[in-house]
Amino acid sequence: MRTVHSLKELRTILRGYRQQGKTIGLVPTMGNLHEGHISLVRKAAEASDIVVTSIFVNPMQFGANEDLDTYPRTLVEDQEKLAAAGNTLVFAPGVEEIYPQGLANQTKVVVPEVSEGHCGASRPGHFEGVATVVTMLFNMVQPDIAVFGEKDFQQLAVIRKLARDLMIPVEVIGAPTVREDDGLAKSSRNGYLSEQERGIAPVVFRTLRHTADQLAQGRTDYSILEQEARDALSEAGLRPDYFNIVNSLTLKPASKDDRELTLLVAAFLGTTRLIDNLSITR
Ligand code: PAF
Repeated sequence: MRTVHSLKELRTILRGYRQQGKTIGLVPTMGNLHEGHISLVRKAAEASDIVVTSIFVNPMQFGANEDLDTYPRTLVEDQEKLAAAGNTLVFAPGVEEIYPQGLANQTKVVVPEVSEGHCGASRPGHFEGVATVVTMLFNMVQPDIAVFGEKDFQQLAVIRKLARDLMIPVEVIGAPTVREDDGLAKSSRNGYLSEQERGIAPVVFRTLRHTADQLAQGRTDYSILEQEARDALSEAGLRPDYFNIVNSLTLKPASKDDRELTLLVAAFLGTTRLIDNLSITR
C-alpha cells in the first residue's frame, strides 16, 4: 500500500490503474480511523478494483470554536489499519496542497435544501466545507464509486445531491453505522469522552430506538415525541442540540403520510458533540 501527499503523484498513479482498466473506489476520511471507516474501505474493495482512502482534516468544514486544532491526527496507525483492510492507496495531502490560495479565496460548493436545518443550522458553513472538499476529491480521484458512512446521514444526503446536481459520474454508496456493543455509534470524537461520559453516551442510541418503537406503534405526534426524546437526553446529562423526525429523502419535518422516516439527533456530552440517526419504514 502506498501513501502519497501530492495531487501530481496521485494522478500519475491513478492514470496507470485506469490504463489497466481497473475501477477506482474512493473513501474520503479525516483519519483517526476506527472500525466504521474500515467497513467503508471493505465495502469499496468489494465494489471496485482499487481503493483510495483520503485522509485530510478539512479546515473548511470546522467552525471557529470547533475542534480543528485538537482533531486527532494518527497517520501511522491509520496506514496500518488500511493496509490490513485491503486499501490500495492513501492520499494524505497537506492543507497547502488542497487550498494553495487559502480558504478565503477558494471557490465553494453550496448545496441548497438538504444542507439546511439539523447540523446545517447548528454548524453554519459546515456543509459548504464538506461539499467543497468532497467535490474536489471527486475531481482529483475521479472514482467510479465513493463510500460514505450513514452515521453522517445529512452529509450523505448533501453528497448524493451534489454528485447528481453537478453531473459528477460517481456512484455514491452509503454504508451502515458501526456501533459499539452498547449501541454507541463509532466516531473519532468518542475519544474525547471521559470514562464517566462514555458510560452515559449510549443513551443517545437508546433514545433513538425508544422513539422508533413509539413510531412503530403508530404515534404521529412528532413534536411531542421529539420533546420527549430531548427530555430523556437532558435527564441523562446531555445537552440536546436537536432531535428531529424527518422524511428520509428530503430531511424536512416528517408528515403523517411519510413512510420512510429518519430520526436525527445531535447532543453535547460535556464539550463533545455526538450525532446519530435511525431510519424506519412504516
Ligand atoms: O465524514 C468525514 O470524515 C468528512 O466530513 C469528509 C466526508 C471526509 C469530508 O471532509
